[in-house]
Amino acid sequence: MQSNLRIDLERLMGRIMRLAEIGAIGGGGVCRLALSDEDKQARDLVTGWMRDLGLEVSIDAIGNIIGIRPGTEDSPPVMTGSHIDSVATGGKYDGALGVLAGLEAIAVLNDADVTTRRPIAVAAFTNEEGARFAPDMMGSAVHQGSLGLDDALSVTGIDGASVGDELVRIGYDGDKTVGNSTVHCFIEYHVEQGPVLEEGSITVGAVTGVQGISWTEYKIEGVSNHAGTTPMRLRHDAGYAAGAIAVEARRIALEIGGDQVTTVGVTELTPGLVNVIAKEALVTVDLRNTDESELQKAEKRINDFIREISTKEGVTVTSRTLARFEPVVFDPEMIDLVDETATALGYSVSRMPSGAGHDAQMFAPNCPTTMIFVPSKDGISHNVNEHTSPQEIRAGADILLQVLLAKAQ
Ligand code: GLV
Ligand code: MN
Ligand code: MN
Repeated sequence: MQSNLRIDLERLMGRIMRLAEIGAIGGGGVCRLALSDEDKQARDLVTGWMRDLGLEVSIDAIGNIIGIRPGTEDSPPVMTGSHIDSVATGGKYDGALGVLAGLEAIAVLNDADVTTRRPIAVAAFTNEEGARFAPDMMGSAVHQGSLGLDDALSVTGIDGASVGDELVRIGYDGDKTVGNSTVHCFIEYHVEQGPVLEEGSITVGAVTGVQGISWTEYKIEGVSNHAGTTPMRLRHDAGYAAGAIAVEARRIALEIGGDQVTTVGVTELTPGLVNVIAKEALVTVDLRNTDESELQKAEKRINDFIREISTKEGVTVTSRTLARFEPVVFDPEMIDLVDETATALGYSVSRMPSGAGHDAQMFAPNCPTTMIFVPSKDGISHNVNEHTSPQEIRAGADILLQVLLAKAQ
């Protein structure tokens, strides 16, 4: 049964644009790396909005911000939320949309004086992106018990700072216990970040699950020497090995086929000079697949190749796992609810898996969970050009409101 309540698009867009001023970068995007000064400013703004909406705001020991609208029952909340950190080249919507649409739903309920049976919680999880501190989905992983608090706090980022120190520095080392919170169900609203909805002229994705993610960093050590005088046969070139890994990663994706994707997102050569053979290279490999056994196949193939290339080139390679999450499947009833709600509101809807990682995948093993997607123009995300139209934003936000109401009544 649908409620007649609808979100206020202007108010929601106003919050999205205001938040996007924090860490704004050229081209309309944002840089709000987790636990940076910009992340702190964004947190201050969002917690202020939560308090203005009358939510009971808590900050837990990993810095997750959770605002609760009490219900008539003191029971586990219906939770929504996402993240407000970004990659360094992020768009306005990745993560922010889910948090701010959650606040918009609360504002609508407040305005209409609606009382729900269950509490409704809106969360902004720490370090979903993993771009500064790996693994990604850090705050939600600690919240749901799949990552230990101390392990998360001791993570060192790409700039040498630690999660624990940075939480203290920005004042978000909260006093609420983390890691044992029960949630009735979880629904995350997010932009698709891929081309599927737009290509199919579909407005809403009812998300069936999230593909598995495997991130590894490889440190390659070779021998630095003169680029002009060193015969090819005598080289131990870390830069060459790094390039070969990138080429092989692409080959593996094409040969495994299906949903397999592979990305080498970082190659840093030392000393990184035009006429010096690199003595060291840092390479990251991101492998994803909806099928765990195929993902393991890709991992084995890249590791076999790296062993082979290190022997042939006479370089040494050490590896470090940055993130490893198995694929998750969302709750059939929650997926049905999103699908039926979208249809009842007159939107075209399609069921689809998520290619990107999301906080929702941390909840999926522990409570009924799903996500709502809306289209990303040209399938672009993790890019300043990320765009979703206000009308599409309205669609997902109205569905979120209805799902929250249905689950909390
Ligand atoms: C997080 O945004 C990821 O999917 O890399
Ligand atoms: Mn995101
Ligand atoms: Mn992202």
